[in-house]
Amino acid sequence: MSDSSSAPEAIPGESREAKAAAALSSLPADMELVLKVIPLPADVNANGDIFGGWVMAQCDLAGSVIPARYAKGRMATVAVNEFVFKQPVRLGDILSFFSKLVRVGRTSITVTVEVFAERFKAQGAYVKVTQATFTYVAIDDNGRPRPIEKS
Ligand SMILES: CC(C)(COP(=O)(O)OP(=O)(O)OC[C@H]1O[C@@H](n2cnc3c(N)ncnc32)[C@H](O)[C@@H]1OP(=O)(O)O)[C@@H](O)C(=O)NCCC(=O)NCCS
Repeated sequence: MSDSSSAPEAIPGESREAKAAAALSSLPADMELVLKVIPLPADVNANGDIFGGWVMAQCDLAGSVIPARYAKGRMATVAVNEFVFKQPVRLGDILSFFSKLVRVGRTSITVTVEVFAERFKAQGAYVKVTQATFTYVAIDDNGRPRPIEKS
């Protein structure tokens, strides 16, 4: 009969490392690097992690890079179609924002944004922290939707 008390115990340090390794991601080959940024102490929330609203603002800016090539002028964010905080962003992380075109409509452009963190003492290893989908609308001088020129 087996004795569960004789089973090898997990070493806490090993377990943490295994979890950290499992969270590592490879960077997306089919997306464009549109922004890199490092959060500052002013961006921290009460938990000591980075405030989600700060991350959302950076994603909105990063997401606008590809649509700007289509709008060729004023545009506005009309929708955050999806936003998932997969892992916390920490002080000292270096964040890389990747984006990809999803759809060009009559007046709107939809993109996905994926954010990868290089932890403070683990540069070169990437953890996917956030994924989002945004829709932007080309607008005229009166703030009304205007058709996107097809080139
Ligand atoms: C952006 C804005 C000008 C669009 O005006 P509107 O009258 O709602 O425009 P429409 O209904 O004609 O939709 C325009 C386009 O947006 C798309 N759209 C509208 N609502 C959407 C939604 N919830 N999700 C995805 N796309 C949407 C439409 O499908 C359409 O795309 P298409 O022309 O490519 O088919 C207006 O909603 C606005 O000014 N919003 C505030 C923008 C803003 O302040 N953003 C910053 C927020 S912090």
